[in-house]
Amino acid sequence: MGDQAKLSAGGADFEYPVLKGSVGPDVIDIRKLYGQTGKFTFDPGFTSTASCESALTYIDGDEGVLLHRGYPIGQLAEHSSFMETSYLLLNGELPSKDELATFENTITRHTMLHEQLATFYRGFRRDAHPMAIMCGVVGALSAFYHDSTDIADPEHRKISSHRLIAKMPTIAAMAYKYSVGQPFLYPDNKLSYTGNFLRMTFGVPAEEYEVIPAVEKAMDRIFILHADHEQNASTSTVRLAGSSGANPFACIAAGIACLWGPAHGGANEAALNMLKEIGTPDRIQHYIDRAKDKSDPFRLMGFGHRVYKNYDPRATVMQSTLREVFEALNVTDPLFETALRLEEIALSDPYFAEKKLFPNVDFYSGIILSAIGFPTTMFTVLFALARTVGWVAQWNEMISDPGQKIGRPRQLYTGPTQRDYVPVDKR
Ligand code: ACO
Repeated sequence: MGDQAKLSAGGADFEYPVLKGSVGPDVIDIRKLYGQTGKFTFDPGFTSTASCESALTYIDGDEGVLLHRGYPIGQLAEHSSFMETSYLLLNGELPSKDELATFENTITRHTMLHEQLATFYRGFRRDAHPMAIMCGVVGALSAFYHDSTDIADPEHRKISSHRLIAKMPTIAAMAYKYSVGQPFLYPDNKLSYTGNFLRMTFGVPAEEYEVIPAVEKAMDRIFILHADHEQNASTSTVRLAGSSGANPFACIAAGIACLWGPAHGGANEAALNMLKEIGTPDRIQHYIDRAKDKSDPFRLMGFGHRVYKNYDPRATVMQSTLREVFEALNVTDPLFETALRLEEIALSDPYFAEKKLFPNVDFYSGIILSAIGFPTTMFTVLFALARTVGWVAQWNEMISDPGQKIGRPRQLYTGPTQRDYVPVDKR
């Protein structure tokens, strides 16, 4: 018999099995706790709760390690492509040359959208936030592709997964085009996944669009960095939505809605806005003081993470990618200097050291994305585009698990106990 964890409650002793993963903290299996003790555990924000078993992504937040199917994110960012990483996440192993070519071909052939969806876009207000459009359009996919929504059929699951990954760049680019009043561009199957996205976003039908290889590579790497991140808020949302048997398009739309918040995917937009507000390095100390002041709600955006209590390994890659983009485009941005100085000042301040607050992936990503030409409103859209593969892989893993149950947390009720209704004239 393996390790057991002992619990005393209500004068009785109980034992719960301790489960071991391949790496990382053990977990105490409390599935029988309520049946045996009549008590729940209380863990708002899931700070001590493993909500599922997963073989996709592993994070060691103390050491700053992120592995996809065992491969370190730094190696994938340097040597892999977003398509290859997507295959890895979906299938568990790196593809052979032929497998990769087949996968790329399949994804390429799913990039077009049902033509009627263009009409659907026109229902949005002219100035709608592209994330509002993303939530709506991705949710609407189930109305257009209901021939792949039988979640009990593995072939349907595969087709809808491919459709989601393939169509997301088209949907994202169209959300951008709509917001700037330019015509939509159809995908071009000659281009790579990422090159195609850049062309659909920045190209116009009146002219040839040249994909700049360094920008294509940087963008592809940014997609790799955002591909998956184990049970974060949006992924947990996708799993929870999917646990009821909802179709994958609806589940991914739920994930997009969750990602939009400033504590999650919205942080890179917030981080760039913060850097703009700070402006020059001489104003940094004032903002550091504000971040430390408990009576001030201001936080350093792009700093801190629920899991990383060390440098986010994605932030390291992001910083070097930023330098490459500046070099390739022969541009610079004074905000980069401000960001570097802010990082330096924050990391030497005991407040940030004690609370283990380090730059996260979002701290530098906003500066790169604006150098490439994206407005801040598109930042979270890019995150959603890349994270779709992680959401889809996690959703597939959950649905394929024979022991899967609907997610249904319990609560600590603190409201009124039962009382009798009082008619309105007697209140
Ligand atoms: N600036 C200043 N203080 C901070 C910051 C910050 N960015 N982040 C955390 N703290 C402080 C908190 O005030 C708290 O202090 P206390 O213990 O004295 O009360 C302590 O550090 C712990 O913070 P929590 O909010 O309890 O930590 P949690 O794990 O719940 O939050 C989060 C993590 C939401 C990411 C937080 O660090 C934050 O708000 N950061 C800024 C937003 C951001 O960059 N989000 C992107 C996350 S990465 C991603 O989604 C891709």
